[in-house]
Amino acid sequence: MSHQLLKGKRGIIFGALNADSIAWKVAERAYEEGATFTLTNTAVALRMGDTPKLAEQCHTEVIAADATNVDDLQNLFQKSIEILGGKIDFILHSIGMSPNVRKGRHYSDLDYQMLEKTLDVSAISFHKVLQTARKLDAINEWGSVVALSYVAAQRTFYGYNDMADAKALLESIGRSFGYIYGRERNVRINTISQSPTITTAGSGVKGFDRLLDFAERMSPLGNATADECADYCITLFSDLTRKVTMQNLYHDGGFSSMGMSLRALAQYEKGLNCDCDCDPAQADDHLFD
Ligand SMILES: NC(=O)c1ccc[n+]([C@@H]2O[C@H](COP(=O)([O-])OP(=O)(O)OC[C@H]3O[C@@H](n4cnc5c(N)ncnc54)[C@H](O)[C@@H]3O)[C@@H](O)[C@H]2O)c1
Repeated sequence: MSHQLLKGKRGIIFGALNADSIAWKVAERAYEEGATFTLTNTAVALRMGDTPKLAEQCHTEVIAADATNVDDLQNLFQKSIEILGGKIDFILHSIGMSPNVRKGRHYSDLDYQMLEKTLDVSAISFHKVLQTARKLDAINEWGSVVALSYVAAQRTFYGYNDMADAKALLESIGRSFGYIYGRERNVRINTISQSPTITTAGSGVKGFDRLLDFAERMSPLGNATADECADYCITLFSDLTRKVTMQNLYHDGGFSSMGMSLRALAQYEKGLNCDCDCDPAQADDHLFD
């Protein structure tokens, strides 16, 4: 149901790869709510993914940009302003990638060049987006910028690997830049800490199906879906949340406030009573590493 919450607003949406992507759902909802926006992703992702299809659906254009490349970002902002006919009101940063996770490197045996890539793509790119926007004065007063994060920034989730460090940095950039951009231009900057969600990036995490099940059992409201995350993003882009800034906002069905739930405990007890023949010495391999 549309409330035209974003009527007249112009945006840039990073990270819609395919119909599972959280950014894809945000684009669909933003379109429904009356926004105009450009879509962006890396050139490779644009060749491999379905972004042009989404652009057609939302009557918009796709601009290739590697979010770690400042020249690409400058071009993205300049072209977006030209295409949309004015400065930007909202930005979604929905970007994450870890070569260490992809290559199955253990957290205690990280490849440091890969770690640099993880941090650059998944966190520093957020700073680059904000710094580029500010230098070009590309965001309107009371504009809203949102990046997607995960609770592993605060708590240890073994299999999340160096992405946990990237998310901690991402959230910190949101706060640090939120102060500067808020004071100068009333631009608000927040991160949303989303439940585990089945997407291309999410499924790369080892043991993801069990993590999803565990989070579902722990969360009183159940896991938040990508569609629900899109709804939340729309509220943050809208004028209804003008004084919310520098926050990491949990959108996780209550997971982050839980210690143990009855449903998770019941499942754990089943495991204790189970007469399976798995080797306890190898049990660690079955966890989220
Ligand atoms: N899926 C989950 O369980 C989950 C949970 C919490 C937070 N998140 C976060 O949500 C965001 C979106 O991920 P998703 O789950 O929708 O997966 P996704 O794979 O659909 O999206 C990740 C996107 O990042 C893009 N990307 C990678 N490198 C890039 C670069 N250098 N420049 C520009 N774009 C680049 C990819 O092309 C892709 O479109 C990520 O920040 C992710 O960490 C995901």
